[in-house]
Amino acid sequence: MTDLELFAAGREADVFALDGNRVLRRYRTGMDVAREAEVMAYVGGLGFPVPEVYAAAGTDLVMERLDGPTLAQAALTGELSIPDGVAILADLLRRLHDLPPRGGTSGDTIVHLDLHPENVLLTRRGPVVIDWCNAGDGPGDLDTALSALILAQVAIGSIEHPLGTEAGAMVDLFLELAPGDPLRLLDDAAAFRRRQLTMSPDELAMIDAATARVRTAA
Ligand SMILES: Nc1ncnc2c1ncn2[C@@H]1O[C@H](COP(=O)(O)OP(=O)(O)O)[C@@H](O)[C@H]1O
Ligand SMILES: [Mg+2]
Repeated sequence: MTDLELFAAGREADVFALDGNRVLRRYRTGMDVAREAEVMAYVGGLGFPVPEVYAAAGTDLVMERLDGPTLAQAALTGELSIPDGVAILADLLRRLHDLPPRGGTSGDTIVHLDLHPENVLLTRRGPVVIDWCNAGDGPGDLDTALSALILAQVAIGSIEHPLGTEAGAMVDLFLELAPGDPLRLLDDAAAFRRRQLTMSPDELAMIDAATARVRTAA
């Protein structure tokens, strides 16, 4: 594995370029990719933009290598305006929440539960959503609340990100454009965020403040 080119490293995974067309995403957390790969194949089969999955085993997912910046990068360079970036996020959530769930629970749809500007790549074929580790069946409003909460965490400085206070404008606009009711399950979204292993103690302590920031905007 020493000859693999480290391409990107996120909070939970390392991503290696295998060749011009494929990347290997490997969890450092020991998490199994089987369920994630199934959800990706399911939504991809229904026409939702995801990287094509070529192989999934243990901690390793081999998938289509996407070209183009993340939505966050494009917003930072000015290649994409804040309103256009938010419209893309809202549109992706709307399209995802229009899909039928894999199980039969009424009212459920497919939810990503980590759809934020670092998990959208702007490719030649349009915006594509990555990082499906939390995805599955669930209520769309929970997904929308989580996206709002993550943007608010950046806006109030509880998650350090170069977008910083720019994320504040994103929260306000997101709440106008987002599908469903972003406040209905906000407390559940906050509880879900608190349970996430990758939150630092400081970030955990500021979840309530971020929740309040979302409520203020709405
Ligand atoms: N299919 C892909 N093609 C190209 N780059 C990718 C792909 N998947 C992930 N990446 C890169 O790796 C980074 C981390 O991937 P991600 O799945 O979001 O992992 P994490 O859970 O660690 O955030 C992304 O921000 C992106 O730069
Ligand atoms: Mg990610």
